[in-house]
Amino acid sequence: MKTFRKALITGGNGNLGRLVAQKLSTKGVELICLDLCETEQENETFYKNIFLGDICDQDLVNRILKEQRPQAIFHLASLLSGSSEINIERSWQINTTASINLMQAAKVCDVDLFFFASTIATYGSKTVDPLPEDFMQWPENMYGVTKVAVERFGSYLKNTCGFDFRCLRFPMVLSPFAPLSAKTAYPSHACRSAVIGDPFNFPVSRETGMSCMFLDDVIRSIFEISQVPQTSLKSHAYNLHGFHFTAQQLCEILKQFYPNFEYSFEIDPYVDNLVKGWPNEVISDSAAIDWNWESEFYFEKSISAMIKLLTHG
Ligand SMILES: NC(=O)c1ccc[n+]([C@@H]2O[C@H](COP(=O)([O-])OP(=O)(O)OC[C@H]3O[C@@H](n4cnc5c(N)ncnc54)[C@H](O)[C@@H]3O)[C@@H](O)[C@H]2O)c1
Repeated sequence: MKTFRKALITGGNGNLGRLVAQKLSTKGVELICLDLCETEQENETFYKNIFLGDICDQDLVNRILKEQRPQAIFHLASLLSGSSEINIERSWQINTTASINLMQAAKVCDVDLFFFASTIATYGSKTVDPLPEDFMQWPENMYGVTKVAVERFGSYLKNTCGFDFRCLRFPMVLSPFAPLSAKTAYPSHACRSAVIGDPFNFPVSRETGMSCMFLDDVIRSIFEISQVPQTSLKSHAYNLHGFHFTAQQLCEILKQFYPNFEYSFEIDPYVDNLVKGWPNEVISDSAAIDWNWESEFYFEKSISAMIKLLTHG
């Protein structure tokens, strides 16, 4: 089993970062966070040290690694798809250049494990269903472009100098913390509206759906892959898949929980086409074979869990 006692989480105040921190802290890992100013959490923090600044500030990154000497890095800082499309230069700087510089600095400082969160957006829209693991990656949006570039660099370092690069490609993540600005996260937003009694307007057609994972499985997958001996991991990146559902199926299940839930469909062609281009099912056999990955959350269980989290926190 891979062991580490101290880890840096970049983007550690984000949707996934704070939950990865929570998970690792229960395992006794000392945690350091790097995230932007004004992302501080009001509630309890799991971090021993928090550095507020830009991951593109290479002096800051070098100082954190040299002074703090983390044994593992969970690199989650990123511009997401919408923001990447709005500012493609900034997206390349944060998502690609800063990631590559972080890996180089990690190598110099003998960091023992580097986890990177990638996405099925690296495949673009001309996919097949189910998506085979070796399908070509030709992303069409900037977010996917930046992520596939980092995958290639991590794989290069892994092959040339044994850098322990570990990468998971996530589908859509169903999460109560999904940013409201992320239009493709409409399933998470619809759950929130149902819980608080607001009407919801779906930006996609009734039959549109995609591969999805529930937040708890995402966090567990990040933790579990960090525990596997390096020799077991034959791939530089693993695709994960939880379940598939359509917008109509989501309406029906939310109606079962909240009979007064009001919804409508007003298709945003950009969002609808984007989501329609994603596969409904992603083959993830290698993760099962190499590190015994198994999803625990399927559609109904995920929606129940979402509602519970949105209701009780
Ligand atoms: N949530 C999903 O659906 C999903 C799916 C696939 C992959 N991912 C990946 O998982 C990772 C975490 O995603 P998330 O959902 O927690 O997103 P998020 O936006 O909640 O978190 C990203 C964090 O990165 C920080 N960040 C952005 N720019 C930064 C900069 N210049 N310097 C320092 N910090 C910066 C943000 O402040 C934020 O806290 C990302 O790399 C994302 O691409 C997420």
